[in-house]
Amino acid sequence: MNSLLGPNIGRGDTVFISTYGCQMNEHDTERMYSLLENHNFIQASHAEDADVIIINSCSVREKPVHKVMSEIGTYRPLKQKKPKLKIGVAGCVGQQEGKQLLKKNPLIDFVLGTGAIDILPDILHQVRDERKRSAWTQIDHRGPYSINTLIRNPRVSSFVNITLGCDNFCSFCIVPFTRGREKSRPFSELLGDVRQLVGRGVKEVTLLGQNVNSYKSPDGSGGFPDLLRAVCAETDIQRVRYTTSHPKDFNNEVLNVMIKYQNKLGDFLHLPAQSGSSKILESMNRGYTREEYLEKVQAVKAANGEMALSTDIIVGFPGETEEDFDQTLSLLAEIKYENVYAFKYSPRPFTKALKLSDPVPEEVKDRRLQKLIEFQDSLAPEICAKYEGRVLDVLVEGPSRTNSKVLTGRTTHNKVVNFLGASDLVGKILPLKIKHAAPFALKGEVIA
Ligand code: 5AD
Ligand code: SF4
Repeated sequence: MNSLLGPNIGRGDTVFISTYGCQMNEHDTERMYSLLENHNFIQASHAEDADVIIINSCSVREKPVHKVMSEIGTYRPLKQKKPKLKIGVAGCVGQQEGKQLLKKNPLIDFVLGTGAIDILPDILHQVRDERKRSAWTQIDHRGPYSINTLIRNPRVSSFVNITLGCDNFCSFCIVPFTRGREKSRPFSELLGDVRQLVGRGVKEVTLLGQNVNSYKSPDGSGGFPDLLRAVCAETDIQRVRYTTSHPKDFNNEVLNVMIKYQNKLGDFLHLPAQSGSSKILESMNRGYTREEYLEKVQAVKAANGEMALSTDIIVGFPGETEEDFDQTLSLLAEIKYENVYAFKYSPRPFTKALKLSDPVPEEVKDRRLQKLIEFQDSLAPEICAKYEGRVLDVLVEGPSRTNSKVLTGRTTHNKVVNFLGASDLVGKILPLKIKHAAPFALKGEVIA
C-alpha cells in the first residue's frame, strides 16, 4: 500500500510507537508499523534511537491520558538533543484533543486521529519534509470501511478488526466520540483476511470490535452469527475468539454458533456487565437489566457447562449506593467469573454521565474498587481449582515473557498455561496435564 508520494518517504529513518489501552490500539500500532515499513521507515527498539516517536494513546479513562502527557514530557531532553526528532500523538487522546494538543504542548509536532492511520506515511512526509505542524482528526462517519489486515510477522494468534466505531453511547464512554459511528467491514474481505493469515501460519484469530454483536456486512451477507459461522466453517483457522460482546446484543443465534463450532470457538466469553444493579445499568444506558444479563449467562452455561466468563466492572458510577455496589458483588458471587477487569468510574468529556448528579467521592470509589478486587480474589482459588488434574488442549503461543525456557499457551477457556517444552511445539494444539491452578495462570506438563 504505497502512498501517492512513493515508497521512500522514510529514507531508512526510525520510528518508535508507544502503545496504551486496548487490543484495538495494539492492532492499530501494528498497522502503523506495517504501513511505515512499506515506506522505508524502520522500527526502533527504543524511543531514544528514533527519528519519529508516536504515542498511540487511550482516553477511555483519565489516568491513561495523564500517562500520555507525562510520557511526552520525558522526551524533552531528547528533542533538545535531536532537533529533527518528530513527536506525534495518535489514538483516542489525539482524536479527542486534536489541535488543542499542539497549542498546549510545543513538544508535539503532529496529531493523528483514529481515522487517519492509513495516511500516516503522507502525514509524516508533510511533517518532516514540509515542516507542517498540524492535526489530522477528520472522521469519515459514512464512507465504507474496507481495509486489508496488515501484520508484518504474524504470530500464532492475530487480531482482525471487523467493525470500527460504536453507536451504543453508554453514558460513561468516550469511544463513540473518539472512534466515530460504527461501520462493518465486508464479509468477503474478512474471510479473505482470515484465509491469508492462515496461509501465513496463524492458528487463532481474535475478531475485534467495540460491539462485535452489531456487526452487519455492508453487502448484505449477514450479521455477526453469520460471520462467526463462516469464519469457522469456511476457513482453516483452528481457533476463533472475539471481543467485545455487548450483553444487550448477545443472543441465542450467537450462542448456537458457539455451541456448533465449539471446536474452534472454545469455552470462553467476555461479557462486560459493568454493574450488578439494574438502576445503575439503566443510567449507564446499557440496554439490559441485571436479570436479563443473568438470564443470558445462565443460557450460556446451560448450553456449555465448560464456559469460562470474564467481565468488565465500573465502580463508583454517579448515584451508585452501597446497595448497588453490593449487587455488583453478588453478581460476581453468582456468576463466578474467571477474570474481572475492574475500574473506578472516570468522568469523560462529551459523555452523558458527566451531567449526572450524585457523584461518588473518590475515597469511596477507592474503597469499593479495593473491596471488589479482594472479593474476586477470595472467589478465584475455588473457581480455578476445577482445572487441576485435568488434561486440557492448549494452543502453544511461544516462550513465556518472564522465562524463555518456559512455553506459554492458552486453553479453550482462555486460561494461560505455562509449561516446560521444546520450541518446536509453538503453534501446536497440545494436550497438557494441569499440575497446578492459580487464578491468572495454570501450570501444565507435557504428557509423555
Ligand atoms: N470510567 C471507567 N471505566 C470505563 N470504561 C469505559 N469508560 C469508562 C469510564 N469513563 C471501562 C468499561 C469498558 C472498559 C473497556 O473500560 O468497563 O468495558
Ligand atoms: Fe463504549 Fe458502550 Fe460502545 Fe463499549 S459499547 S465502546 S462501553 S459506548
